[in-house]
Amino acid sequence: MSAAAGDLNVSYRLLLGPGPSAVHPRVLRTMSTALVGYMDPEWFQLMDEEQALLRAVFQTKNSLTLPMSGTGSAGMETVFCNFVEPGDTVVIGCNGYFSDRMCEMAEIYGADVKRIEKPWGEVFTPEEIEAALKKHAPVKILAFVHAETSTGALQPLEGMGETAHRHGALLLVDCVTSLGGMPVRIDEWGIDVAYSATQKCLGCPPGLSPVTVSERASKVLHGRKSKVKNWYLDLTLIEKYWNKDRAYHHTPSTTLHYGFREGLRLVLEEGLEARWARHRATAEYLWGKMESLGLKLFVGEKHRLPSLATICIPDGVDDQDIRKKLLNTYNIDIAGGFGPLKGKIWRVGLMGFSSRRENVTLFSEALRELLPGRG
Ligand SMILES: Cc1ncc(COP(=O)(O)O)c(C=O)c1O
Repeated sequence: MSAAAGDLNVSYRLLLGPGPSAVHPRVLRTMSTALVGYMDPEWFQLMDEEQALLRAVFQTKNSLTLPMSGTGSAGMETVFCNFVEPGDTVVIGCNGYFSDRMCEMAEIYGADVKRIEKPWGEVFTPEEIEAALKKHAPVKILAFVHAETSTGALQPLEGMGETAHRHGALLLVDCVTSLGGMPVRIDEWGIDVAYSATQKCLGCPPGLSPVTVSERASKVLHGRKSKVKNWYLDLTLIEKYWNKDRAYHHTPSTTLHYGFREGLRLVLEEGLEARWARHRATAEYLWGKMESLGLKLFVGEKHRLPSLATICIPDGVDDQDIRKKLLNTYNIDIAGGFGPLKGKIWRVGLMGFSSRRENVTLFSEALRELLPGRG
C-alpha cells in the first residue's frame, strides 16, 4: 500500500479565531535555528533568559515562573494537580466553557468544588466573591478565568487577591486569552497562581503554557501532605530542572522555546503598555465596524475583551454558511459559539500579531459582502 504524500501546501489563512493567532515572522524564523541539547550550557542560558522575560510579561518577581510543556490545558492541569489535595475546598467562578473545564480538573484531583454561577457573558462583583468565600469557608483556592474565550467577557481582578488572602485562600487565574493583550499584573493584584498559553496574545505557536507561582503558593506546594498525582506536570520536579539543580525531567521542545523566547522579546520591545493599547484600539475599530453593519456585540462595553469580540448573529443568518464562505472565499478563519451560545455568536479574535487594523478592515468588508443590505 502506498503511503505517499505531496509537499505540505496549506492555504494562507487570516487567523481571526479564538487561537491560534498569526505567528510573528520573527518567531517563525527563529524556530528554524539548529537545535542544542537540553543540558547544553547555552540552552541553560536560554532558559534563564526566557524566565526573566516571562516574569516581565507577567509583571511579577515570582521565582517559580516558567513555561510548561503543553498547551493552555496543560497549564490548567498543572495548577490544579499541584495545588489541590483531596478534600480541599475550591471556589470557582463559573460563567463560561473554560471555568467548567476548571471544575472538571479540580474534581479529578479530589477537590470539593463549590461553583458560583453567572450567566455566560456576565462577570462577578467583589460582593459576590466575598459572599462565596464566607459561605464556603475555609476555602483553599479561589479560581477565575480572566478572559473567557467562550463568551468574550473580562473578569475584573483588581482587589481580588486581597479578598482571597483575607479569607486564607489562594487566588488562581486563567490568563490564557489575556496575557500579552491586556493588563495582567500578577504581583500588584495579588494573584498566587496563573497560567497562560503561547498561541493567543503572545503571538507564538501553541505548545507551551507559561505558569507563575507566588511565594505564598510555593509554600503551600512544598507543604503538601500527599504527592502530586501527575508525574509529567509535577512542579516540585520540574522546578529542579529550571533552577540551579538542572535535574533532567523531560525533553523540552527546543524549537518551541526558541520561538517563545523571541515572542517574549517582541512583547517587551513593543512595550506592555503600547501592546495593550494596540489590542484595545484594534478592538474598538472592530466594534465600530460591526455596529456600522447593524450587528450587536454580545458583551457590554465595560466588560468586553480587547482580544476577542463576540458578535450576535442576526436572526435569519446561517452561522455555518457565513463562516464557510469567510474561510473558502476570503481565507478568513473565525469561530462560532460553544454550548448555550452555539449558533448565536461569532467569536472574532484580535490577538498578538493578528491584532492589526488592516485585518479588521478586510474582515468587516468581507462580512458586508456576505450580509447584503447591511451598512
Ligand atoms: C480561557 C482558556 N483557557 C484554557 C484554554 C485551553 O487552552 P488549549 O486549547 O491551548 O489547551 C483555552 C483555549 O482556548 C482558553 O481560551
